[in-house]
Amino acid sequence: MKDIEKIKEDLKKSVGDKLYTHCINVMNTAVDLAVYYKVDIEKARIAGLLHDCGKLYNKNIKNLEHAGLGAEIVKDKYGVEDKEIINAILYHTTGRENMTMLEKIVYIADKIEPNREYDVVDEIRELAYSNMDKAIMKSFESTFRYLKAKNVHIDKQSLDSYEFIKNNKS
Ligand SMILES: [Fe+2]
Ligand SMILES: [Fe+2]
Repeated sequence: MKDIEKIKEDLKKSVGDKLYTHCINVMNTAVDLAVYYKVDIEKARIAGLLHDCGKLYNKNIKNLEHAGLGAEIVKDKYGVEDKEIINAILYHTTGRENMTMLEKIVYIADKIEPNREYDVVDEIRELAYSNMDKAIMKSFESTFRYLKAKNVHIDKQSLDSYEFIKNNKS
């Protein structure tokens, strides 16, 4: 795998400033959460930094497709072989049933990084450090409200992830 500084240089060259800043913010937030939840910090760092790399090569990619493309790119271009990192990237938009803590961390870091601004973000930020499952539920609810308001179809995988966490939350 490439070292993290090389990956950053590469991302900085390829993505616009705004997306690059988002990637760095998600990386830092994911690292914070990994420390807090005693999850592998290096895995959180790489997954956070690269979670949106699917947008790198296709700026117009549909939201639901960039995670899958990203999971391919981290393998092919960045030589990431770790299944946990790859899955954290693959499931960062829709989640999945029975998510690992690393997957939850990357999912929620994406939603609460410092530049995120929306009505319930502060509540979700707090919950992320007190009840991760509730934080993820709140985040899905907020996303579903947003999509409904825009008349956008809600994908089945997100609904299934939400139902799963709702029924199994700690
Ligand atoms: Fe994303
Ligand atoms: Fe993102």
